[in-house]
Formats: sequence, structure tokens, C-alpha cells
Amino acid sequence: MINLENITKVYSMGSVEVRALDDVSFSISDGDYVSIMGPSGSGKSTLMHIVGCLDRPSSGRYSLQGEDVSKLDDTELAHVRNKRIGFVFQQFNLLPRETVLGNVEIPLMYAGVGGKERRRIATEALARVGLADRMHHRPAEISGGQKQRVAIARALVNSPSLILADEPTGNLDSRTGGEILAILDKLNAEGCTIALVTHDRSVAERARRIVHLRDGAVERIEELDVERSAERGPVRWA
Ligand SMILES: Nc1ncnc2c1ncn2[C@@H]1O[C@H](COP(=O)(O)OP(=O)(O)O)[C@@H](O)[C@H]1O
Ligand SMILES: [Mg+2]
Repeated sequence: MINLENITKVYSMGSVEVRALDDVSFSISDGDYVSIMGPSGSGKSTLMHIVGCLDRPSSGRYSLQGEDVSKLDDTELAHVRNKRIGFVFQQFNLLPRETVLGNVEIPLMYAGVGGKERRRIATEALARVGLADRMHHRPAEISGGQKQRVAIARALVNSPSLILADEPTGNLDSRTGGEILAILDKLNAEGCTIALVTHDRSVAERARRIVHLRDGAVERIEELDVERSAERGPVRWA
């Protein structure tokens, strides 16, 4: 579904050029679970931004579900993002003045879904992440792990085929982080394609493959033993 060919991203900082991605090629098939690892500054977030259509490559080809998205304009890219991609970030990125429910409804508002239907879908997404009883709280009134579950619910409302998570457990303790990873496992088992950035090896091992980046280039792609998924233990929701 995702095919990256010779992707390069160069940032110009005055007279200095930073080659954040340098000739990156790999693909992610439908239903896959891929981790992206690498030292700080190796290009992980830049890669996620390009895969997530938040940014365009300087050169190279990126096709998403057969469509060459490197050629789309801003409006078209925004549409692809809203319809097909769910984002989960380390910083949660929730709107503090909105309720939990209001936050989860936002992508549906952008998609033009009416109020009643929005509420129904957002409520269902919150139930999926075990937060049905926190809908009317504000972000400041819930824990970090709950905030990340709200962010996942928000990522799910437009039924994306792809979930991109950039250090989703980076601000959480290991137990709470484990709950978030269990939710991602479950979404993957339900057919969602997942790409997850982490610098934590044990987190990366939830995936089927690890793409190792170094200095903006793919250093190697490591195939993980699929049997390992059996070791994750049962998935719990709340
Ligand atoms: N918006 C930007 N403008 C200029 N340089 C950037 C920008 N974003 C990232 N970079 C540079 O690109 C390189 C890769 O950054 P990034 O993708 O954030 O790495 P990582 O997520 O692996 O830490 C770094 O050298 C960083 O300083
Ligand atoms: Mg980063």
C-alpha cells in the first residue's frame, strides 16, 4: 500500500542544507506493522511526515494505495490525510478547551460529518479505547495514558487504513505505554496498517519488521519472528 522510491528530503536553513532523508526506498504492505528506529536526528519524524502526507519529499516517488501522492497539491494532501491516515504523537496534541468527546469529533468535523453522526462515531471510538466514562472530561482532567487513548480514538474516527505513531509511548511509564501498545496490536489484528517510530527496542519489537535509519538513510530492514506476537499476551481494553 505504501511504496517509497528514492525519497530525499532536504531542508534549506539559509545557506546550509540539511539532508534529512537521503534516497530512502522501502514499502509497507496492507495490514503490516512496521517500526522505525534510529538515533536522534536520523530522519524518523521527517519520514513519518512524508508518509503521513504532512510534508512532501524534495525528490522521489511516494505512492499510497496505488496513487502517486508526491504530486498532489495541499488541498488534495489534506484530503488524503483526513480520509486515510490516523496520527498519534508523543505530545498527544489534544485541544485543552475541548472535552474528550469534542477532541475526538474534530477529524469528523473536517470531513463534514453532521453533529449527531459525529457524536455517535466519536462515542464508539472512545468506547473502543476504554474511555466511554471520560467523554465529558477535559484533557487536563485525565492521565497521560488516557490522553494518548483519546488521541488514538481521534485517529480512528475516519476509519483510516494507516495509523502513524511517532513515539506514542515516549511520555508514558512502561505499564501505561504497554496499554497503548496493546491497543495498537489490536488495531493491527483488525486489519489496520501501522507504522510506529520509537527508539525503544522492546517497543519496536511489537512490529513485524524494523526499518533502521541512520543519517537519513535506511541502514537495514530487520524481519522479526512473527511467532513473537504470541508472547505479547492477551489484549485488554480498559
Ligand atoms: N523543519 C526542519 N527544518 C530544518 N531542519 C530540519 C527540520 N526538521 C528536521 N530537520 C533536521 O533533519 C534531520 C532529521 O530530523 P528528524 O526527522 O526530526 O529526526 P528524528 O525524528 O530521527 O530525531 C535533523 O538533522 C534535523 O535537525
Ligand atoms: Mg523525531
